[in-house]
Amino acid sequence: MADIILGIESSCDDTSAAVIKDGWLLSNVIASQDVHKAYGGVVPELASRAHELNIVPVVSEALSRAGVEPGELSAIAFTRGPGLLGSLLVGTSFAKAMGLALDIPIIMVNHLQGHLMADFIRQSGKDPVEPSFPYLCLLVSGGNSQIVRVDAPLSYTILGQTIDDAVGEAFDKCSKMMGLGYPGGPIIDKLAKLGDPTRFSFAKPHIPGLDYSFSGIKTSLLYFVRDEMAKDPQFMEKNKEDICASFQKALIDILMDKLIKAARQTGIKDITIGGGVSANSGLRQRLVEEGAKRGWRTFLPEFKFTTDNAAMIAVAGYYHYLAGENTALDVAPVSRLSDF
Ligand code: KG4
Repeated sequence: MADIILGIESSCDDTSAAVIKDGWLLSNVIASQDVHKAYGGVVPELASRAHELNIVPVVSEALSRAGVEPGELSAIAFTRGPGLLGSLLVGTSFAKAMGLALDIPIIMVNHLQGHLMADFIRQSGKDPVEPSFPYLCLLVSGGNSQIVRVDAPLSYTILGQTIDDAVGEAFDKCSKMMGLGYPGGPIIDKLAKLGDPTRFSFAKPHIPGLDYSFSGIKTSLLYFVRDEMAKDPQFMEKNKEDICASFQKALIDILMDKLIKAARQTGIKDITIGGGVSANSGLRQRLVEEGAKRGWRTFLPEFKFTTDNAAMIAVAGYYHYLAGENTALDVAPVSRLSDF
């Protein structure tokens, strides 16, 4: 009998459901929440309310696109955390209720592990191109900036992580500060393509080991823009492409310096990226260039699997299911990785 897993993701501002059969993706539905754009960032209460509205239609749509009846499901995988508690509660409670109604196991998934497993989402008509274990994943999103060594589908070690802001936060906060809009990553990425990355430079952090820091560079940009605007109020408007290109290059340099160091220290040559910031065109290009120089095999996720999606949760859940896991019904979501 086939193993059919329904995945549910609701950790932040995307409500998503996906169905996989024996590891192959049948459907992946994502409802994004535009309501946050007006506020320049995700408003937790609005996110929870939107998940509550979206969860039933999104799950129904995922099942119908997959051509799967609820009674055919083997298990339901859901994101337990980390993320926004109110958002996570919606997906967790829904998974419990549906699991109980169908009398099938529910399987909690760590959101971080979902991103790590995005390279293992198999799609019909496409040959799977998957990294070999162990591999390194640069996990970069609005909530994470980590270098992770993945030894097996369910086994990983965080080698380095940010000690303050995530790199996605740096993109988002700086975009807001420059009056460019939200989410900042795609906006800065687009403007950066038109600018000169060598025009301006920003202070780089000096953090030991494989950890990151992004709060200093944010402050460096803030002071730079403030000082230049005091001299010329049109400075931002006249130079925004060059500022974005230079700022993006500085962030990519920081990310790549530690990734290169991690690859050197571990001797690992299969390198992947994941998380929302892995959609960044500059970062993707740099990874491929560095990989070619250093003999790495690099793996770039498809754009639709870079940001939050339930396909990655379903795949991670599938491996937990194969390992015989079954989460107890008194499970509660957790907002922080350390509480997982
Ligand atoms: O993984 P994700 O959807 O959500 C979590 O944070 O878990 O990532 C969202 C982040 C935002 O900070 C957004 O600005 C960033 O990913 N992002 C990008 C790009 N597309 C999305 N950052 C840089 N360049 C992009 N093209």
